[in-house]
Amino acid sequence: MQAVLSLKKYIKPYMAFAIIAPLMMVLEVAMDLVQPTIMQHIIDNGIAEDDSSYVIKMFGVMILCAVMGLIGGIGCSIYASKTAINFSADIRQDLYETITYFSNRNKDHFTLGKLITNMTSDVEMLQRALTMLLKMFIRGPFTFIGAIVIVFLTARELFPVLLVVVPILAVAIFFFTRLSGKLFLKVQEAVDGVNTRVQENLAGIRVIKAYNRKRHQIDQFTTVNETLMKRNIHADQIIGILMPLTAFVVNMGIIGALWMGAFKVENSTIEVGVILAFINYLMMVMGGLMGSSTVLMLIARAVPSANRIVAVLEQKSEITNTENPVAAPIKGEVEFDHVSFAYNKNNEPVLKNISFKANPGETIGVIGMTGSGKSSIVNLIPRMYEADQGVIKIDGRPIHDYDLQVLREAIGFTPQKATLFSRTIEENVKYGNEDAALEELIEALESSCALEFVEKLENREQYRVTQGATNLSGGQKQRLAMARALIRKPAILILDDTTSAVDSISEKRIQKAIEENYKESTKFIVSSKISSIRHADKILVMDDGVIVGQGTHEELLETNKIYQEIVSTQLVRGGTLNA
Ligand SMILES: Nc1ncnc2c1ncn2[C@@H]1O[C@H](COP(=O)(O)OP(=O)(O)OP(=O)(O)O)[C@@H](O)[C@H]1O
Ligand SMILES: [Mg+2]
Repeated sequence: MQAVLSLKKYIKPYMAFAIIAPLMMVLEVAMDLVQPTIMQHIIDNGIAEDDSSYVIKMFGVMILCAVMGLIGGIGCSIYASKTAINFSADIRQDLYETITYFSNRNKDHFTLGKLITNMTSDVEMLQRALTMLLKMFIRGPFTFIGAIVIVFLTARELFPVLLVVVPILAVAIFFFTRLSGKLFLKVQEAVDGVNTRVQENLAGIRVIKAYNRKRHQIDQFTTVNETLMKRNIHADQIIGILMPLTAFVVNMGIIGALWMGAFKVENSTIEVGVILAFINYLMMVMGGLMGSSTVLMLIARAVPSANRIVAVLEQKSEITNTENPVAAPIKGEVEFDHVSFAYNKNNEPVLKNISFKANPGETIGVIGMTGSGKSSIVNLIPRMYEADQGVIKIDGRPIHDYDLQVLREAIGFTPQKATLFSRTIEENVKYGNEDAALEELIEALESSCALEFVEKLENREQYRVTQGATNLSGGQKQRLAMARALIRKPAILILDDTTSAVDSISEKRIQKAIEENYKESTKFIVSSKISSIRHADKILVMDDGVIVGQGTHEELLETNKIYQEIVSTQLVRGGTLNA
């Protein structure tokens, strides 16, 4: 419930609407409540007394009440929807912004499927609950209490019927509301299961096909889908009992009222109109109780959604910005001073006591086995993650002293997994520098050896990349991702295994172009191939999170056992390096 309350700040800007909606509802309910009484007067004072002018007059009053009730009802719907739609749009916006500013460690907490469910169905659930709340929280109790009071005042002879019927209805509805909260929580969990499966299947569709696991995936989906179906049926069946049960109780009430009324009409202690009005009010009592219970059920269902939304909104990015950033431009000297880092604080560090220095303009090669910590080292430079121990310095100052935006703008970062957006090639590359001119775009494409294939595409730079870049090859994606980093002309260039899918001739040309065109950039080249890093000014040899050697290719070849091993496995028979 705390989570729900913490979302109330999103209603504040629309407070006026949120107040008008229930007020309009008061009008509708009041009009609803007076109508059976008017009807009673028409029957008892008009029809029974044969007074047609009275009947016509009261009929006019009744129509007027109905029209006012209609205005109230429509007004309430409009303002309730306005409040709820604005409220949910603001929450969605905040969720999106929070996720955009997530640090990578924050991201590791949530699955993609969960975040998508969060931004769509969870927000929608809240919107529905709020609309209902604004419409019904007045209507339910007001109709219920109003009807009871009117019966007490105008049809006291039949009041004992209410004394029996209302407690039975109240207990039944309370019991079912509680039960439905529990049932729908289970339904929601099953929906999560289905969403996660769908998301995973779509993301992995190629692997599924390649491994011929379609049947297996379909079977898995069938399982979660059936769970959802069963839970939905179960919930619907249980909740479905409520309606006939309450109708039965109300019908018994009506029979009771008619039975009691029959005697009293005979004795002339009650008029027929009073009985008819009573039956109307009895229905209203039931409607009021049911309305209140619908709101309660919806709120019970919205609470888990609210909890999940708040869990995302409250994630604080551990990557915070400094208040007094360094003003000097970044030249590109990078130093790691006894740096250690773990993705999960409870686990062993994946980087242990890392120290090295890169001078501006130098090329640093990072090599090592899979999982040795190469990506982890370079991820720390743009502060994708925060080091746990030691200091990382740029131009002699800790990276925390720089404004985060300035720091990241100085870095051309190409992560290991080439990610492109569903836009044109030009837009994708210019993502690295929006102000770049056409010549700069061409230069970046040329340096990353992307121009040769872009030129052959229909529409060239205007070629549209599909979602997930499925209309490009692995090597083409990598080249465009590199171009996006190069177009920045960054002080620090990080290429994390970006030529793994590029052929060796193109790779040599890329190396040459980068050496020539990006002389001033400090370059970090991560690779598991010797050929990618052998010409680096300094090579860091990683093994299980530790730098086990650093130096040039020749130095390491003489002194470093692990480096020698890597080289020997990549030698071709003729004794030259397998490029
Ligand atoms: N987001 C993460 N959460 C938890 N552990 C991680 C995460 N990313 C990497 N690791 C772990 O950290 C260790 C180092 O991973 P890293 O990605 O730095 O290796 P790498 O040298 O780049 O490997 P590769 O050559 O396969 O790219 C591995 O044991 C890996 O399982
Ligand atoms: Mg890696």
